[in-house]
Amino acid sequence: MNWPKELRSRIKKQEPLKKHTTFKCGGKAAFFALPQNIEELKLLVIEAKKNRLPIRIIGAGSNILAADKLKKSLVIKLSSPGFTEIKFQGNKVYAGAAAMMPRVLTACRDKGLGGLEFISGVPATAGGAVVMNAGAWGESISNLVERVKVMDYNGKIRDLNTAAIKFTYRDSGLKGYIVLGCTFLLKKISRKKIDENIKCNLTKRKFGQDLFSPSAGCIFKNPDNDSAGRLIDACGFKGKHIGGAQVSEKHANFIINKNKAKPSDILKLIEFVRRQVKKKFRVDLETEIKIWQ
Ligand code: EPU
Repeated sequence: MNWPKELRSRIKKQEPLKKHTTFKCGGKAAFFALPQNIEELKLLVIEAKKNRLPIRIIGAGSNILAADKLKKSLVIKLSSPGFTEIKFQGNKVYAGAAAMMPRVLTACRDKGLGGLEFISGVPATAGGAVVMNAGAWGESISNLVERVKVMDYNGKIRDLNTAAIKFTYRDSGLKGYIVLGCTFLLKKISRKKIDENIKCNLTKRKFGQDLFSPSAGCIFKNPDNDSAGRLIDACGFKGKHIGGAQVSEKHANFIINKNKAKPSDILKLIEFVRRQVKKKFRVDLETEIKIWQ
């Protein structure tokens, strides 16, 4: 593939995705681009379309399992300052897609704007959190989203309101777009209260979740009125391993990269757990993480 001259320095070939995912494993991206601004992103999108190259967007890589042998594609990571800005207007905050949510949260706390604290401890970018409709403790980020700025796969920029996005549990209608940034509507709250909320959520997370081993957080979505973690635990699978992948001893809906796991080890363990839960409870578990083949 012959990339235009102005893009060549932005594109790496055969980039190992283990460097870009919290699972710390994954195959290689045929092309991996780090655009510096919207114009470069647009050029990338147009070139990829021209060459029928599928595009995948990666944020903090905290919800992705990239298979060992990936189909030829262009992986785009928006990480330059052009995509990480955070700006305020009244009770609203705009976060660039590549701004890390912990940074957004701290900036909001300094302005005395609350509401996003439930997301504390989630290692996601604003873009990733919105596309996945990240949530915790019964809350979802979609409840705070006012607008999302996106680029479509023709390079056209659009400003979507929430009605146009169709958020569902841990999902959104943003798949046909590249998120450029998002506006959240927050509430004035005292900094003290925000600090308390953050501390409380981080403590609950530390207590119940495996935060120190490489993982992608919860693997499966919770089925209606139940918990995937509870079901997997009830099968007795905590500690179960295949190759270097292991069901966390702390939270059964976490699979950790215990010892140089290959993506195929994790995939096999996911399938094993899914089959056994189906056999024992007649429940179909659906993955929450995105599996890139
Ligand atoms: N449980 C077990 N064994 C386990 C894990 C959980 O019996 O190994 C039981 C718990 O005792 C509790 C129930 O299952 O009664 C629910 O567990 P928990 O409170 O840990 O929450 P969860 O439903 O497993 C969800 C989100 C998490 C989020 C937490 C906190 C999903 C799939 N998971 O987990 O999100 O952090 O609530 O609100 O919605 C993620 O998105 O990656 C993630 C981890």
